[in-house]
Amino acid sequence: MSKHMSNWLKITSFDKRDEYYTPALMVYPIVKYLKPGSTIWCPFDTERSEFVKVFTESGFRVIYSHLWQGQDFFEYEPAEPFDYIISNPPFTMKLDVLRRLYTLNKPFAMILGLPILNYQIVGKFFLDKKLELLIFDKKVSFDGNTSSFNCSYFCNGILPKSIVFYHIPNNNTGDNFIPSGIAA
Ligand SMILES: C[S@@+](CC[C@H](N)C(=O)[O-])C[C@H]1O[C@@H](n2cnc3c(N)ncnc32)[C@H](O)[C@@H]1O
Repeated sequence: MSKHMSNWLKITSFDKRDEYYTPALMVYPIVKYLKPGSTIWCPFDTERSEFVKVFTESGFRVIYSHLWQGQDFFEYEPAEPFDYIISNPPFTMKLDVLRRLYTLNKPFAMILGLPILNYQIVGKFFLDKKLELLIFDKKVSFDGNTSSFNCSYFCNGILPKSIVFYHIPNNNTGDNFIPSGIAA
């Protein structure tokens, strides 16, 4: 457990289901859909997040924030202008996160489990909204254990069409497992 996380644990409640960190393997696919030279806000991330690292290495300007730094996504917004909001949000707050994303009215890409589409409340939520899906052809693991469901990108204002299927080289398990640096 990182120092940031243990400090944060002392000051607020903790839901283990929200602490799954994204491997770089899942970040690369979204890069080609972003306009070169743009600024990306990663609102659930620290400097060690693979989103922050991959986007920075790819030449984007990156703003990152996280609850561990006292920046609550539901209240905080960067002072500087930004073009995209991209991350993997806390799973337990998915609908609240989506509500705020549409209110912020900026192009976004968020990694979420495809099974959420099975919920009536989620279907109702998307009835009057635009949504694009970048769907990986594998169930990529966050922690090296086999994943039982597919997590992919839910986007608005980013993809050229409603559904894009994307080939990903492996599912991040076994010998292929590379953990996110945020977990170190
Ligand atoms: C699924 S994890 C993903 C972390 C990182 N985005 C990644 O993909 O590696 C979601 C993170 O959001 C943090 N978080 C939970 N509630 C938050 C809030 N209200 N504002 C900002 N971050 C929050 C959690 O502590 C957790 O570390």
